Amino acid sequence: MSGIPHDHYEPKSGGEKWIHSRLPIVGLIYDTIMIPTPKNLNWMWIWGIVLTFCLALQIITGIVLAMHYTPHVDLAFGSIEHIMRNVNGGAVLRYLHMNGASLFFVAVYLHIFRGLYYGSYKAPREITWIIGMLIYLLMMGTAFMGYVLPWGQMSFWGATVITGLFGAIPFIGESIQTWLLGGPAVDNATLNRFFSLHYLLPFVIAGLVIVHIWAFHTTGNNNPTGVEVRRTSKADAEKDTLPFWPYFVIKDLFALAVILVVFFAVVGFMPNYLGHPDNYIEANPLATPAHIVPEWYFLPFYAILRAFDTEVWLVIAVNFLTGGIIDAKFFGVLAMFGAILVMALAPWLDTSSVRSGRYRPMFKMWFWVFVVNFVVLTWVGAMPAEGIYPYIALIGSTYWFAYFLVILPLLGVLEKPLPQPETIEEDFKAHYGKSSTTDGAPAATPAE
Ligand code: HEM
Repeated sequence: MSGIPHDHYEPKSGGEKWIHSRLPIVGLIYDTIMIPTPKNLNWMWIWGIVLTFCLALQIITGIVLAMHYTPHVDLAFGSIEHIMRNVNGGAVLRYLHMNGASLFFVAVYLHIFRGLYYGSYKAPREITWIIGMLIYLLMMGTAFMGYVLPWGQMSFWGATVITGLFGAIPFIGESIQTWLLGGPAVDNATLNRFFSLHYLLPFVIAGLVIVHIWAFHTTGNNNPTGVEVRRTSKADAEKDTLPFWPYFVIKDLFALAVILVVFFAVVGFMPNYLGHPDNYIEANPLATPAHIVPEWYFLPFYAILRAFDTEVWLVIAVNFLTGGIIDAKFFGVLAMFGAILVMALAPWLDTSSVRSGRYRPMFKMWFWVFVVNFVVLTWVGAMPAEGIYPYIALIGSTYWFAYFLVILPLLGVLEKPLPQPETIEEDFKAHYGKSSTTDGAPAATPAE
């Protein structure tokens, strides 16, 4: 696919030409921030900037926290208290980092749901989607290891439960678990390597974010219509787009400012709201907490992990057919990773020729059930695995898989889509009227 035709950077002065012929970095920055962007993007396209902000916030606050933190089982808990009480601005720094992780996940889930609704994962944006999924997996790994560092009760027992899952892998599981922990149980070697990796992974994520952005700059952004920007001529492309700077930069910064008001209110007034009180008790390998609950952003997958217990007929059947190799625990682990895998395969499972959910009446309905199901799984993941909760988790988990493996493939065949606009310009005019300034910029801020 050829790129969207647009003006490229031309060095003018002698100095600019001198630099450009040796290192065309100004051209690269210019082309990146002036990239033609569909002018009908709505407020769901702000999350990428929010995510970039979160990554920067986590790296900066994390580096300063690491200056005062000690990754040793005897000192870690105390060093966090030291940060909270003695280090200048230490409490704010820690609360920013703790709640920054939550904002990061709020943004990534909304970013993913945006992609799922508007079909952003569909061709030609499969690589953007897959890189996104890799980023998401790394984010989960980073957050999990970060939560172990304060060496509280939830840190210790969370790490014990989750690394224990690897022990469920047949034959090689125990060796993998020992290798991950650096010993037979969660201990000093574990804390040390988790600290090391927790420091490293955000930089790997940053590298992947650059590739992610490179990928969607190559294909161009998707937009609420799912109709591509015209590439027939520069004049046509200009009717469908606006340069990223200043239009989308200002819009994104405005959205970020509003979100940060809420974020700072949480950091300032209720910084422990999303945390667990048990993590203010130092890790004790001899006392297991009554309920081991992961952080909220892991809960949907934790619910899927626990849903497939020994009473589920599918688990019983698979256990029998594999001669006991796949037991309930391993089944749960496979289901948890499988849930992310089927989402990563969405570009190939969705058979519809129409990209945006806006023109897909049946899809829309199933999509919103998927969103509600996600919330239900989050809720049930925090409940004890007894009474009615395992049934709810099982229904929710089944729907998750059915959505990707059955509903998306079938809808492409069964659904009759609504008519789509011919061009982005047509959609833009229909939504925001014809009022535009002489350079084609909208007179009012578009909103949907
Ligand atoms: C650190 C995490 C991430 C960052 C910083 C990031 C950044 C961005 C940015 C800046 C955009 C441009 C449009 C927008 O702002 O929404 C974008 C688009 C996109 N992202 Fe991400 N992203 C991240 C994670 C993810 C994840 C986890 C997925 C899901 C698998 C994903 C899938 C996509 C897709 C499909 C697009 C293309 C949408 C379009 O064409 O406009 N991203 N991302």
